[in-house]
Amino acid sequence: MAQKVEKTIIEPLTAPLDGSTTVPGDKSISHRAVLFSAMAEGTSRVSGILDAEDVRSTISAVQDLGAEVSLEKQLDGSLAGGITGWGSAGPQQPKSAINCGNSGTTARLLMGTLAPWPITVEITGDSSLCKRPMRRITAPLMKMGVHFDPAGAETLPITETGDTKLKSIVYDAPMSSAQLKTAVLLAGLGAKGKTTLNEPSPSRNHTELMLPEYGAETTAAERTASVKGPFTLKAAEVHVPGDPSSAAFLICTALLKEGSSIQVEGVSLNTARIGFVRTLERMGADISTTHVGMAGKEPYGIISACYTALLRGCEIPADKIATIIDEVPVLSLVAAFAQGMTVFRQVSELRHKETDRIAAIIEGLGVLGVDAWMDGDDLFIEGQPNLVLEEGLELDSKRDHRLAMTWALAGLCGKTPVTVTNFDSVKVSFPNFLDAITRMTQ
Ligand code: S3P
Repeated sequence: MAQKVEKTIIEPLTAPLDGSTTVPGDKSISHRAVLFSAMAEGTSRVSGILDAEDVRSTISAVQDLGAEVSLEKQLDGSLAGGITGWGSAGPQQPKSAINCGNSGTTARLLMGTLAPWPITVEITGDSSLCKRPMRRITAPLMKMGVHFDPAGAETLPITETGDTKLKSIVYDAPMSSAQLKTAVLLAGLGAKGKTTLNEPSPSRNHTELMLPEYGAETTAAERTASVKGPFTLKAAEVHVPGDPSSAAFLICTALLKEGSSIQVEGVSLNTARIGFVRTLERMGADISTTHVGMAGKEPYGIISACYTALLRGCEIPADKIATIIDEVPVLSLVAAFAQGMTVFRQVSELRHKETDRIAAIIEGLGVLGVDAWMDGDDLFIEGQPNLVLEEGLELDSKRDHRLAMTWALAGLCGKTPVTVTNFDSVKVSFPNFLDAITRMTQ
């Protein structure tokens, strides 16, 4: 059955963005805090957890598997409270399939979590998630002894049966993916000996930073991470800082909206996540970061940005793409308004996100009147600093949260409204995105 198409008109901001704000908790760290607490012996205390659909998928998955979750909504909109894990007793056999909704992180991390346990679990998701590649996760887990049905499945639904005698492995990952790295390391916690994952370039390292908080022995360097098993995680206390990927939308709005000056506080400054700040600096943006403290082993602080009249295109090398993997859509929009060419090298991983983000960026920038194209695996964008948008433009979010927010920026920062289809997909990571922006104009 065809899904209903919702259309949202995004009006231009009536005033510049001004002042300090915060953003909801980091999505990647929230998933991990919930999942590791569910795996642990005892009751963990977690706070700052993102209350959005993707993290709700992880919460409901661990509840299906027997973890007790008592999180309550806080005044700032985050979730906080206790999670009592299954520990050495292991997860229970769920009564039905686990539905991961739109969340690739939930599905892929779950596969690693289930690897050492003698239960059979069907994992599924929404129509977008059921198109995303899973072989990258099942391949190394099968080497460790996990069974999947169908064995050669490329996509969900997949039924997993763990193995109580998992083998540790050294795995050379074909792509840089924190989800793949985490799935292998979580399985490694249930295997005898040292499990190592090597990756072509550094992906986000939240798992390596957080597992020791739960007592696990990990080693991590530039492009490699290991765990020693078998080990049962111990309850911990975790606070989740603000999500830099959500902050990126506020920061880019401030850069494009004349007269703006903002500070986003309490946000993760993990270097594996703030590649977009480095990219914007190279584009000439008036942007800076201030380190404030540590949440566990995660640094956090303030990102400040002011409207910048002239931004320049730049080239982002292949080994930095993992640090901007979720920000390529919004950086592409900024590049559309910059002087000269922007080139993102080796970005084909974006074809495997919630939608094919490469095709969507090229199509959406085309609607705006900006030329963008792929040459091999490199994305080229020919900026137009004097671009004036036509009236009545309609941009398709493809039901992808980051595209919905990216196209909204075109309306917010311009002089004429734009229509964004299925804008409500922002509920996946940043449900109050529009409120957060308009609040800063008052
Ligand atoms: C994530 C890793 C990245 C990122 C995703 C979240 C994570 O995906 O795009 O939004 O939490 O580990 P890949 O591992 O596929 O690069």
